[in-house]
Amino acid sequence: MVESNQTEKGITRRKFTFGVMIASMAGAFVSLFSLLKVITPPKKAGYVSTIKIGDQLVYAKGANAGSAVKASSMNVGDWVLAYPKGKTSNPANIVQLIKLKESDFVAPTKVNLTDQGFVSYSAICTHLGCTVSWVKNTSNPDASVTECFCHNSIFDPSKGAKVIGGPAPIPLAQIGIKVQGDSVFFTSGFTGPIGPQV
Ligand code: FES
Repeated sequence: MVESNQTEKGITRRKFTFGVMIASMAGAFVSLFSLLKVITPPKKAGYVSTIKIGDQLVYAKGANAGSAVKASSMNVGDWVLAYPKGKTSNPANIVQLIKLKESDFVAPTKVNLTDQGFVSYSAICTHLGCTVSWVKNTSNPDASVTECFCHNSIFDPSKGAKVIGGPAPIPLAQIGIKVQGDSVFFTSGFTGPIGPQV
């Protein structure tokens, strides 16, 4: 009888110990999962542009937001953020319009998608999706670069917006533009993926 009680106690103790081990392991998994969630930023939902050929570029910011971009107001080394007219509510549509010298463009820039020194790229950083900025080189305007200040990715607008610094994994996609009169219009879709690619 005494032996039977001791056996039952032994079994109960083993069950208890096993239960504690399972609970500890589950807790460890939950902690690890939480940690990984912090280290690995969530993959952003895809950015889907609704820009169509023939859409007109309008200023995205400033006092003139929503009005037509004036090509004549831009000199070499200038840059504006723009949207297609009437489609400003879709963040995937924001682009940079940059003016350089025509002779500045080298591969992989698609020169046939540029016009009179104007080139346009997505303005959404391919790292984690911040809107990029422009760093004007005042002494050498055509050496100006696009930079994302979130984590300092730098893109070269004369070379197809290729990444020349920082964590962005791929270039900013180019999009075709054409100057007509003093206005600017889109002539193609994006040449590659837009938005965060990590
Ligand atoms: S979001 Fe642009 S560098 Fe990170």
